[in-house]
Amino acid sequence: MRQQTIKLSAMNSSLTDAVVFLADETQTEAIAQRFASALGVLREDILAQGFNLRLTGDLGAGKTTFTRALLRALDVAGRVRSPTFELVEEYDVLDGCVFYHFDFYRFESPREFEEAGFRDMFGSGRITACEWSEKAADYLPAADLEITLTVDKAARRAHLAALSDAGKKVLNEVLGHAA
Ligand SMILES: Nc1ncnc2c1ncn2[C@@H]1O[C@H](COP(=O)(O)OP(=O)(O)OP(=O)(O)O)[C@@H](O)[C@H]1O
Ligand SMILES: [Mg+2]
Repeated sequence: MRQQTIKLSAMNSSLTDAVVFLADETQTEAIAQRFASALGVLREDILAQGFNLRLTGDLGAGKTTFTRALLRALDVAGRVRSPTFELVEEYDVLDGCVFYHFDFYRFESPREFEEAGFRDMFGSGRITACEWSEKAADYLPAADLEITLTVDKAARRAHLAALSDAGKKVLNEVLGHAA
């Protein structure tokens, strides 16, 4: 198996917050693998309450790339399409959970979130990953963990912020694997 070397917590880490430098897509895949393992550990919590991931960052920052790597790490075998046009793509993961990958970029109004019935796709047994959350604004259920991606020359920087107890558990699993 390929050795994964990400320098987690090199810049800043605490229980609720960490910054990770992702030199290339291999490192994005490595951090996604850690998230997949962490979500696996939290599976019972996810079955009970769900888990919401917010992906923030400019066009081309790497939100879809990360989500695709996460789905691959969760053993999704088929094609992982960007939800740019369909707004949502659905996957079965972790033996009984459903993963919804949303991209709200094309929303003209946050009300479209309610009108499309997306609210029903959040909650017990559901993992959601949302790109362009700001376009769904107040209608969107609260995120458990936010990943903010910024372009750093050819690389990317990821700020991981836990926003709930479940988010803290996942983040600690992700960081714990670095030890
Ligand atoms: N860690 C990384 N280092 C360098 N390049 C990366 C890294 N992660 C992703 N990239 C590249 O950055 C681009 C990110 O595109 P991606 O579609 O994932 O962005 P996005 O944030 O989803 O954009 P959009 O807002 O348009 O949906 C891709 O070309 C990918 O190859
Ligand atoms: Mg995208």
